[in-house]
Amino acid sequence: MYSLRHLAAALALFGLLSPSVLGDTPINPGFNYGTDKVRGVNLGGWLVLEPWITPSLFDATGNDDIVDEWTFGELQDRNTALSALQSHWDSWITESDFADIAAAGLNHVRLPIGYWAFEVGSGEPYIQGQLPYLQKAVSWAETYGLKVIVDLHGVPGSQNGFDNSGHRISFPEWQSNSTNVQRSDNIIKTIASMFANNPNVVSIIAPVNEPAGYDGDQMLSVVRQYYYDSYGNIRFPYGTSQESNTVVLLHDAFQPLSYWSGYQTPPNWQGVAMDTHIYQVFSQSDVEMSQQQHIQTACNMASSLDSFDLWLIVGEWSPAITDCAESLNGRGVGSRYDGTYPGSTKVGSCTGFTGSASTFSSSYKTFLRQFWEAQTITYEKADGWIQWAWKIENADEWSYQAGLANGWIPEDPTNREYPNICD
Ligand SMILES: *[C@@H]1O[C@H](CO)[C@@H](O)[C@H](O)[C@H]1NC(C)=O
Repeated sequence: MYSLRHLAAALALFGLLSPSVLGDTPINPGFNYGTDKVRGVNLGGWLVLEPWITPSLFDATGNDDIVDEWTFGELQDRNTALSALQSHWDSWITESDFADIAAAGLNHVRLPIGYWAFEVGSGEPYIQGQLPYLQKAVSWAETYGLKVIVDLHGVPGSQNGFDNSGHRISFPEWQSNSTNVQRSDNIIKTIASMFANNPNVVSIIAPVNEPAGYDGDQMLSVVRQYYYDSYGNIRFPYGTSQESNTVVLLHDAFQPLSYWSGYQTPPNWQGVAMDTHIYQVFSQSDVEMSQQQHIQTACNMASSLDSFDLWLIVGEWSPAITDCAESLNGRGVGSRYDGTYPGSTKVGSCTGFTGSASTFSSSYKTFLRQFWEAQTITYEKADGWIQWAWKIENADEWSYQAGLANGWIPEDPTNREYPNICD
């Protein structure tokens, strides 16, 4: 059905609605985006499983074919899977994490959740039970004064085929079937109405994580329309012309920021932010860079991040410089850095670059501090940053918590030892 909010969004697109009806009064978000800097962490691997974040959950299945949350539900006893999930949801992130995140001077958490927390289609083996934890997370965030970005990390059919979309497949199917997109629209409506009256805590909703825009226009055209639909669904959650104060966060679909120039910009569009993810570990040339080149590459991004026309948040990034973390490229898949990834050329041994910080040399830890500072300084040229991730079972180089504990992340994120590292 063509709802009023779709109509509003469509008319806004063509500039047909009068400004008093739509879009021209700036919204009043729960955080001063564009003025205050977003500093946060992703609560990855909690309500959406990722084998590399919690390898123990996958190892405990004793089944090498269980590589994502889909197969976690499909290829083992359902009750076994459910009880493993339940104890994971109860323990991976708790209220004390929210206390620690706030105490570390951070102001945001980004919380990935899959569509299957809301609705499971026939033939889909996902196990439900995540939703009460989303509610708990929001109330804990409120207690500790943190803002939450609710991030729909997996949509029906998968938007990228990554294990972190729920279903690791060779080519994404979300975009090729309008039922998948309609189901996603409905879930965004549900999320938007859950939190429309609580923008001071859930300040942002992100309609889809990392759609595979590199697969060309068959993907990008669907993404662009879905983002129009999502604007209507998130900014007009009441089924009337009344606007919410909830900000929409659009992932750039791996396109250069210039691709999105002028897209959903004020004055006709209000409360839209762009999310870009910056990693330096997912190609051969990335993992071949020297430590100094990694720092320089981060610093060099300042001007493009600074000049974008929407609020711009670096919603995922990490101080890691190798892809050595176990299962990072998928369960059972090796690493480019040590040459065990198909088609890669060995750069060096992974020993001492991943796993427990107790194995890291002091010069590596000093480098992690420098790279962390180079990135946060640069990403604050945009509107801020959200590190991936707060907790990782066995890859401390990625973990904000381990960085705090081992000194390469400062207790106060504005307290810099290398303030001129990019000068
Ligand atoms: C489209 O996806 C839905 C699930 O979202 C599925 O039930 C349906 O069979 C798919 N249609 C086609 C033509 O693949």
